[in-house]
Amino acid sequence: MPPGNVTLIDRSDPAYAGQALYSSAFLRIYDQLIYGFNCPVIWRCPRAPMVELYDDNVSSRHLDVGVGTGLLLDLCRFPAERPEITLFDANPNSLKAASRRIRRYAPATVEADVLKPWPLEDRFETIALVHLLHCLPGDSIADKEVVIESARERLAPGGSLFGATILGDPELQSGLSRRVLPLANRRGALSNLGDRRADLDAALGRHFDSHQLKVRGAVALFVAPAPA
Ligand SMILES: C[S@@+](CC[C@H](N)C(=O)[O-])C[C@H]1O[C@@H](n2cnc3c(N)ncnc32)[C@H](O)[C@@H]1O
Repeated sequence: MPPGNVTLIDRSDPAYAGQALYSSAFLRIYDQLIYGFNCPVIWRCPRAPMVELYDDNVSSRHLDVGVGTGLLLDLCRFPAERPEITLFDANPNSLKAASRRIRRYAPATVEADVLKPWPLEDRFETIALVHLLHCLPGDSIADKEVVIESARERLAPGGSLFGATILGDPELQSGLSRRVLPLANRRGALSNLGDRRADLDAALGRHFDSHQLKVRGAVALFVAPAPA
């Protein structure tokens, strides 16, 4: 990470790499690189279904976990004019960029590592984990399941969790993504070589009575409602 960009995750922590990339310089090109090229071309899941995931699920009391630039929060339709939004990220640059992006909603921010106990007392009607799990260290979804568990604990009755993550299943890869996946994992930008659709499905099933999971390209999109 460039000097001056300090995060609360120590360099020796396996979670460091997954958030260290998000310098203010990288965040300036993030939308174009990630949603203009990587998602549609490499992972074959363009921006539109991601905005749709928000439009279909987001509530007026929302916790967004792993916020990047806040692009999807900016583009989506909230069911209220003044939604209460909390942004949760380990990287202060991401929190700053996303807060600025959606300043019209005056979001609250929480700077913390999602793999540690969440420093939140509140409960939320919706929680989004969008393009977060593939950044988290681990050999498989099992190592990241604690995040699904923490989100479930912070959902209000009748609320829902939704999210998306790039999977490592070999049969979901194109010729291009099969080449990019190991490179991105070696660089630490992604940590998802062992993330399997079946394991994500099983992890959601362990924490929720029901859920939906669909795959578009190499990306899993999921929604899991909590009981009312
Ligand atoms: C790929 S971006 C996703 C941004 C946004 N949700 C989107 O879809 O464009 C991942 C975000 O997760 C954050 N992140 C990565 N590891 C984290 C961790 N262990 N704890 C909290 N945030 C983390 C990064 O700082 C970054 O803002």
